[in-house]
Amino acid sequence: MSTIISIANEKGGVAKTTSTGSIGSILSRLNYKVLLIDLDPQADLTISLDVQAEDRNIFDCLFHHKMIIANKVNENLILVGGDPRLTPIDFMDSVKKDKEFQFENPRLILKSLLNQVSDKADFILMDCPPNREIITQNALAASDYVLIPSEAHNFSVNGINNIIEYLDAFVSAKLNPDLKLLGLFVTRYRQNTAIHSDMVEWFENNYPDELFKTKINENITIQEATQMGRELSIHDDIKRSSQLVKKSSPFKGLADYRELVDEILNRIDHESRKV
Ligand SMILES: Nc1ncnc2c1ncn2[C@@H]1O[C@H](COP(=O)(O)OP(=O)(O)OP(=O)(O)O)[C@@H](O)[C@H]1O
Ligand SMILES: [Mg+2]
Repeated sequence: MSTIISIANEKGGVAKTTSTGSIGSILSRLNYKVLLIDLDPQADLTISLDVQAEDRNIFDCLFHHKMIIANKVNENLILVGGDPRLTPIDFMDSVKKDKEFQFENPRLILKSLLNQVSDKADFILMDCPPNREIITQNALAASDYVLIPSEAHNFSVNGINNIIEYLDAFVSAKLNPDLKLLGLFVTRYRQNTAIHSDMVEWFENNYPDELFKTKINENITIQEATQMGRELSIHDDIKRSSQLVKKSSPFKGLADYRELVDEILNRIDHESRKV
């Protein structure tokens, strides 16, 4: 059985996509079989891993193939690409035109698609768009866990409170009573910055059980890797082999995400779920 995780936060630019790609890549290099799904019509995850999704994208999987057809990133990592047609309006239009889906709850369509592959991947990670609309609802309905990245900024406080309230309502609405909050983690953290440490203190006080200890520091090499379409570890290898002074440790952003993955694996009873 796959462990299915949605990476979600309605607030934009909090590193949902960066975290989905980084966590997925690290898990795959720990020998887990990982399927990534890019649910954002901006398709940033697909671009950040340099994948040309063509017809192997989520829109075609849902409305043409009716099955998961993915692109290979590495031996253990595959990706269903994003598609600009996966906006809430286009999604609902396609559902209405699709005879097969007409009588189904439109929030459960992705879940039925993922049922076909649940014995083929150890982890399925879904990068959600920055809203709570029908695509995010589909992801939450299909997931075992939701993982929430957040910046250490006071604007994030409302976003976090809102999403936690929404998850409670979502669970109580019985769309997915089994959905669990895997946790919250802070991204783009700047050490020695009073406003950031104050915000982390707020998270520690308000969500002590949910907050991961690992903070992902602001790190330009992360941006560099995603802009070059490389997994963090590949970017790290290339950078270190081309430098005169070879460092023995990986760059900070990769080290941070590896630490976060350790914490995530400790929170999930992953061994019992390995395919
Ligand atoms: N730790 C980091 N250090 C530096 N830059 C980062 C870090 N994490 C993410 N970024 C950069 O921040 C920007 C936003 O990140 P990302 O696209 O992952 O956010 P998002 O939540 O997916 O955004 P959206 O809501 O638009 O989908 C990107 O340019 C990304 O490269
Ligand atoms: Mg994104």
